[in-house]
Amino acid sequence: MTSSTSSSTFGPTTDDGAQPAFSVPAGFASRHIGPTSEAAATMLAALGHDSLAELVDAAVPGSIRQSAPLDLPAALSEAEALEALRGYARRNTVMTQMIGQGFSGTHTPQVILRNVLENPGWYTAYTPYQPEISQGRLEALLNFQTMVADLTGLDIANASLLDEASAVAEAILLMRRANKKKAQGTVVLDADIFPQTRQVVAGRAKAVGIDVQIVDLATEGLPEGELCGVVLQQPGDSGAVVDHSALISEAKERGAMVTVAADLLSLTLITPPGEQGADIAVGSSQRFGVPLFFGGPHAAYMAVRSGLQRQLPGRLVGVSHDAEGRPAYRLALQTREQHIRREKATSNICTAQALLAVAASMYGVYHGPEGLTRIAERVHGHACALAAGLKAGRRRLVSESFFDTVQVRLDLDAEAEHILFAAEEGGINLRRVDETTVGISVDETTTAEHVDAVLRAFGAPFEASEGTPAGSAADSRDDRTAFPESLRRTSEFMTHPIFHEVRSETQMMRYLRKLADRDLALDRTMIPLGSCTMKLNAATEMEAISWPEFAGIHPYAPAEQAAGWRALIEDLEAKLTAVTGYAAVSIQPNAGSQGEYAGLLAIHQYHLAHGDADRDICLIPASAHGTNASSAVLAGLQVAVVATAEDGTIEMADLQAKTAQYPDRIAAIMLTYPSTHGVYEAEVREVCRIVHEAGGQVYVDGANLNALVGLAQPGEFGGDVSHLNLHKTFCIPHGGGGPGVGPVAVAEHLKPFLPSTAVGGAGENGAGTDAVSRGGAPVTSTPYGSAGVLPISWAYLAMMGAEGLTSATAHALLGANYIARRLSGHFPTLYTGEGGLVAHECILDLRELTKLSGITAEDVCKRLIDYGFHAPTLAFPVNGTLMVEPTESEDLVEIDRFIEAMIAVRAEIQQVIDGELEAADSPLRHAPHPAAVVASDEWDRAYSRQQGAFPVSGVLQDKYFPPVSRIDGAHGDRNLVCSCPPPEAFEIR
Ligand SMILES: Cc1ncc(COP(=O)(O)O)c(C=O)c1O
Repeated sequence: MTSSTSSSTFGPTTDDGAQPAFSVPAGFASRHIGPTSEAAATMLAALGHDSLAELVDAAVPGSIRQSAPLDLPAALSEAEALEALRGYARRNTVMTQMIGQGFSGTHTPQVILRNVLENPGWYTAYTPYQPEISQGRLEALLNFQTMVADLTGLDIANASLLDEASAVAEAILLMRRANKKKAQGTVVLDADIFPQTRQVVAGRAKAVGIDVQIVDLATEGLPEGELCGVVLQQPGDSGAVVDHSALISEAKERGAMVTVAADLLSLTLITPPGEQGADIAVGSSQRFGVPLFFGGPHAAYMAVRSGLQRQLPGRLVGVSHDAEGRPAYRLALQTREQHIRREKATSNICTAQALLAVAASMYGVYHGPEGLTRIAERVHGHACALAAGLKAGRRRLVSESFFDTVQVRLDLDAEAEHILFAAEEGGINLRRVDETTVGISVDETTTAEHVDAVLRAFGAPFEASEGTPAGSAADSRDDRTAFPESLRRTSEFMTHPIFHEVRSETQMMRYLRKLADRDLALDRTMIPLGSCTMKLNAATEMEAISWPEFAGIHPYAPAEQAAGWRALIEDLEAKLTAVTGYAAVSIQPNAGSQGEYAGLLAIHQYHLAHGDADRDICLIPASAHGTNASSAVLAGLQVAVVATAEDGTIEMADLQAKTAQYPDRIAAIMLTYPSTHGVYEAEVREVCRIVHEAGGQVYVDGANLNALVGLAQPGEFGGDVSHLNLHKTFCIPHGGGGPGVGPVAVAEHLKPFLPSTAVGGAGENGAGTDAVSRGGAPVTSTPYGSAGVLPISWAYLAMMGAEGLTSATAHALLGANYIARRLSGHFPTLYTGEGGLVAHECILDLRELTKLSGITAEDVCKRLIDYGFHAPTLAFPVNGTLMVEPTESEDLVEIDRFIEAMIAVRAEIQQVIDGELEAADSPLRHAPHPAAVVASDEWDRAYSRQQGAFPVSGVLQDKYFPPVSRIDGAHGDRNLVCSCPPPEAFEIR
């Protein structure tokens, strides 16, 4: 174990000679926390405080402070943490996974693994809200959209969604709002759909009162009555590949819309949903090079026919142009994800799985349409060989028409058990579909030997393939397919040059480097985004995620094979419970939004269980994040907004008035703590008391937990439930917009309503440890959501220990307060709490300056790019402001570099105020400045090239040039283009 001697000398040494409070312990914490003790002393001096303890005492209300230190084991060193992770990994058993059910083995091209998934240039990037510094990842995501739209045969695809089951739920909601006339009609789910999809959809539909019926459409046809939508799956859960065209046209004649959940790889061979008449296609892109990861993170997709694009949930990349008229990418429709519409939103998706969408798109770029088709043919060939062998052994197949999955119906359950056992003995996992049905799914990693081994497990005689091993039939097979000829795909796809140009590894490596170089990520600069906590994602934390013992486990593998995973998850949940002061944590939700939804569902269920069905109002402060209101609506609650007082706190009088206005109807309040205004509200206990007295539950949005860890616990100061964002406070990288993990933490009385881990049959397979005690609806496809990235947060907690975590929080406060103080003469901080201090972030108010100069907060964001910075959070939670959150990981040199840039920007604004320059002529309005502009032969600006591109000497040597000038967002929305433009569009004229 690491000793916890201090490397810090600031702050008072206590009487007993112990280390000063909040000092940085030696070991990993001193690598994670940026400021040295000398730097911290300098920062404290600027704030007029003698010690961190004094600052913390002044900033954090005594009424919420926790009385005891965090109860966590002693911190591990980096080497010890890796060894402990290896211990967990060793307890998992890596098998050949032929379970399928939406999760397939895949070969992640090493060039993508190393240069995307393991490359901080990609994984430390933020969501591309600032498009000028995000052109690389926007291009990658546009490739994803183009690939998905082509494969599904539909017009527009988004990038991306969280998982297949929740994507189907999103599609149902979309059909309901787009099909207004039939909105009250039934949604029919074909029975041949994955069990996890059924379960997640059932929970979502119940919450908002949608009538969903599961019907065996193949035998029963469409039911009578008004239909809003129909959901099919291709290939079905049984593996069956079915011609849906007649059913789809019948559904459409009856005014219903149609969604098809489709396997992308199969669509290289099979007629795509769009060509069969579907309106929407959804699914997972996991098998495009993304490891199984014990269930996630994987990017789901949604594609729609033209006319539905404005209804899409998630993010949509579009093409616009920059100030020089060159094509440039941006998030389309004013970066409008649905959640920004708050209670009017129809989806709460914010963080999705962007990094995984990038990996999948690069898999498409690497293989191209021919490569993907070859992989699909090989997969299909092996499935055909398997089916032939099974038939030769007189086995009964559930469907004779299939792509990659063959299911066998047996007479006795003992026989099924025997076969599963025999396969397992040979190192292969098959799927136990039900008592007497066994499923076998073939994937890219399947070999002829695997096929032979499966056949042996079935005891099939090999006469069928005598002379040639069963599997090798795949390589020499003729052109026939095991699905109807009428379903063979004839249309071209992925015709854009990008899917044809990159074939050698050299090209791929350089393409990935080129795109990464266009972007600003945390590996180059501080990303001071308020509410986003862009802190260090340490290499040791990242190390374990691609180990095969973690990455190669199927989410529905037998429990004993995932013993290490479950032990790690249990330990992580216990640690998060200790940090938050709640009774239990579920790490299932795969984003903050899903944690919110799961938490609100738990509250809703709790009220129902107590006969309080009328409690349907969720109070939400005006300053809340958009996902809060949209999650409340999706959980079946109505939103009542609570006003914000002058000082940014919740207006107590309004809170009282609202609770009085809705007697017996208050279900919950959702508050963020510290508030999105970046201050600790001293009255939070009183807020909780009022709501509890009104019979409501208190939901504390834990997105700002970075200001609380070790100092205060939401479970202790009044919260009943919180979600945390592991991709903020607990070091999972943002990945350009996901992966995310949004655990939901609850007090004792809500434990029974945590999301069930018995999803997708995991209960029967045993992966769910406590399925009985967790009775809430599952919110994702798999028991543990984005399990694959959990070792990151586990390692962070283990290496920081109680002291390191608490010290990190104190340093997060120090950084934010230091910035607020140093900039106070230039940009006032909008809200402060006790002692004029902020929490871990500060809102810089530019509104007065905008009035005087016409220069907007957005101009400042763009200008900061010229200084080499990613912008702070723009216009959230208050328009005309910038919210700055440095985090504890930034050292004083970097923080001072930011302050210098902001002061220089302020001077540029002053030039406009003083009339030296018109706003329209200032470098602020022309920002950012790409190399092509400043090096151009023409220069007619009112300021020098030097001023434009090198406004401070620090950028003379290490200059980041954005690839484009300011992007015209409105043009992109008026002329919506959401797939790759032709290369000629980029010719520089
Ligand atoms: C205060 C707050 N709540 C909730 C969320 C939603 O989290 P996610 O993006 O993981 O869905 C965010 C995300 O930025 C946030 O800042």
